[in-house]
Amino acid sequence: LTAGPTFEAIDPVRGITNLSSGKMGFAIARAATEAGAAVTLVAGPVALATPAGVTRIDVKSARQMHDAVLPLAASHDVFIATAAVADWRPADAAEHKIKKAPGQGAPALLLVENPDILAAVAVLPKRPYCVGFAAESHEVEQHARAKLVRKNVPLIVGNLGPATFGQDHNALLLVDAVGTRALPHADKLTLARQLVAEISSRLNA
Ligand code: C5P
Repeated sequence: LTAGPTFEAIDPVRGITNLSSGKMGFAIARAATEAGAAVTLVAGPVALATPAGVTRIDVKSARQMHDAVLPLAASHDVFIATAAVADWRPADAAEHKIKKAPGQGAPALLLVENPDILAAVAVLPKRPYCVGFAAESHEVEQHARAKLVRKNVPLIVGNLGPATFGQDHNALLLVDAVGTRALPHADKLTLARQLVAEISSRLNA
């Protein structure tokens, strides 16, 4: 499982991140452990307690998250990519704090693309069952369905990012080749338990 945001350094005191709280991913880690799974949780920078029985690896950047996940992925049966991974990072993080100088204006920030962790896991020869998330601001189902094809994974879970980031509640839309199923508005642990049951029934199908 991946969870939380990533943090992409601009210099030692600044960076690019997003509003993901990690709560959905941590709830899934807890629900999967309760269901009997041995869970490895690769977490971006979040201030959340590790659910009992979960092995946690803390990372900051997308590249660190990628490097933590890839060697472990093939030895797991399921990969759930809950993390809101930053799409881009500053091309070169400055070694020292970038100083403000009068009359010099703002520094230009050159961004480069981060590795796509889910896509990288999905092309492994011995790939786990891959579940992606789609945090959208609108048209959740269409975007989730597009992601199913683009990322070549069997299940995408859509949700409204702005409505759920940081909240204790969410609503999920499970999109796969068979159809679409809504898990209506509920607290994240309830939804996580339902999602784990849905994944396990697909694994056993
Ligand atoms: O299309 P998008 O990249 O937003 O898809 C989101 C899904 O892909 C999520 O499951 C997210 O965790 C995963 N992802 C990833 N690595 C990235 C970007 C997204 O694993 N660099």
